[in-house]
Amino acid sequence: MIEVKHIRKSFDDKVVIKDVSAVMDTGKCNLIIGSSGSGKTVLMKCIVGLFSPDAGDVLYDGQDFTHMTTQEKKDMRRQIGMLFQGSALFDSMTVEENIMFPLDMFTNDTRGEKQKRVDEVLDRVHLTDAHKKFPAEISGGMKKRVGIARAIVLNPKYLFCDEPNSGLDPQTSLVIDKLIREITVDFNITTVVNTHDMNSVMEIGDKIIYMYQGEKEWEGSNKEIIFNNNEKLNSFIFASDFLHDAKDMRMLEMRGKISDDRNMDDLLNK
Ligand SMILES: Nc1ncnc2c1ncn2[C@@H]1O[C@H](COP(=O)(O)OP(=O)(O)O)[C@@H](O)[C@H]1O
Ligand SMILES: [Mg+2]
Repeated sequence: MIEVKHIRKSFDDKVVIKDVSAVMDTGKCNLIIGSSGSGKTVLMKCIVGLFSPDAGDVLYDGQDFTHMTTQEKKDMRRQIGMLFQGSALFDSMTVEENIMFPLDMFTNDTRGEKQKRVDEVLDRVHLTDAHKKFPAEISGGMKKRVGIARAIVLNPKYLFCDEPNSGLDPQTSLVIDKLIREITVDFNITTVVNTHDMNSVMEIGDKIIYMYQGEKEWEGSNKEIIFNNNEKLNSFIFASDFLHDAKDMRMLEMRGKISDDRNMDDLLNK
């Protein structure tokens, strides 16, 4: 579990993150959603320590990351995997070497042990014959899978993905979303995903934090988002006609399911 408490971050005079608090659950995909410029990436960077927040605390399973010593932070970072926007692979290294990199940096494993681990994670992301290829020789979806393999190679307890679907077609996006979800559940990872993709929200949004101009505007699950009454959130969701239709269809489907256990009123009042 990750707890974010009253995080603030400004650049010069511009306040970018305004007093954000949230809890990210273990074994779940915790989504940070919102339009471009709403503060998703800055918030994520504050959580992983790539930016130091001006105020507030970040707790990883109760441990106060913000106030740790440099060495303690380093140890903590070893438990954090990150998939950067655009995958950020090293172009001059093969797929295998890219994934080997964190093992070389952070472990004293033997060459054989490292190779075994690389094979395991490549297998886990369903890439079995790309070991010797260079990033330029593989598709966008494959690059993301290599990025995921590299992010999980050190067995992280926490996984951060910034816009994992950027630049991918909807079908490939779905494959990547499902993979992130599977890995999260299988290894009981606390996963945080930044996205503005509503398909991802419906597919993997166990917990959703909606950011609007640097503030947490709404929070709930992918079931609750359907029935939400938040105007700003709804205008974000209804940005396309397709989603409008999809939401209507989902409403009907959900009503059928929910009428049995009489939760409808609760959901509508959220
Ligand atoms: N390093 C930086 N210096 C100054 N302003 C920044 C920096 N990084 C982000 N910002 C500003 O912070 C705001 C939020 O950005 P960001 O978190 O990248 O949004 P999102 O990821 O939701 O698209 C934007 O207005 C952006 O211009
Ligand atoms: Mg961003």
